[in-house]
Amino acid sequence: MYKQPKIVVFLGPPGAGKGTQAARLAAALELPSISTGEILRRECQSETERGRRLRTLLQAGKLVDNSQINEIMETRLAKKDCRDGCILDGFPRTVEQAVYLDRMLGKLNMPQPIVFNFVVSAAELIERLERRRQCPTCGRTYRVNEQAEGPMFCQNDHSLLILRADDQPSAIRVRMESYEENSAELVRYYSGANCHRIAAGQAPAKVTMELFNALGLGHLNRQKAASGGQWSVVTC
Ligand code: AP5
Repeated sequence: MYKQPKIVVFLGPPGAGKGTQAARLAAALELPSISTGEILRRECQSETERGRRLRTLLQAGKLVDNSQINEIMETRLAKKDCRDGCILDGFPRTVEQAVYLDRMLGKLNMPQPIVFNFVVSAAELIERLERRRQCPTCGRTYRVNEQAEGPMFCQNDHSLLILRADDQPSAIRVRMESYEENSAELVRYYSGANCHRIAAGQAPAKVTMELFNALGLGHLNRQKAASGGQWSVVTC
């Protein structure tokens, strides 16, 4: 049976929970979740001129050029696994990228995106980023609790969890400023029936249910909603 493709876009500041919710929605919709941040972090590992340049940008919390991001996304969206749609976590981040996305979707005969704008207070964002740890091997994200001390290990593959280079306070500041600079114009660009504001300061399961309801997926059970989540609390 023909399935209408679904393109879902998550807008939101650093630490808003886009990655956490993208994993859950991807599991429920059986669509790929595409994180430009993850793609770039992988590219940063290469010891090429491009890899080194990206590493410097990301560590400082600065945005990568629109042209480079658009090119990466053009290749990624043309892949077979996006035939039924995808969840875009972190793209577009500027109006220039949004215009480019519209053009790409038109060329691929895909519908316009359904956009979710994650809204969370700055104080909550900073706390989340300070408490986030990531597995460098599988990419799984954790939130450590206040009492956690000493080395922490991934529950999937036992790698030592790390603090992302751009979760240092100076980089968090730059990322937040850059979000502030671009977000108002981007949200305006997407204002309309297909743009939903999400109160993302709530508990993860509540945010998931808001998303599901907006997408008409309220019939899916909560277990399915949480199954793709990267929500883990680590204590040591
Ligand atoms: P990217 O990796 O996309 O970073 P980001 O947008 O800053 O978002 P984060 O990954 O920090 O946060 P998130 O919203 O996914 O939150 P998460 O679910 O992890 O991009 C990194 C860099 O790449 C950018 O700075 C830029 O340099 C570059 N880049 C990427 N895309 C680009 C583009 N399009 N153009 C140009 N440059 C680009 O949650 C955060 C923490 O909170 C976790 O520990 C999680 O467990 C916890 N948490 C999640 N939900 C909740 C909740 N409801 N309550 C409490 N805690 C929660």
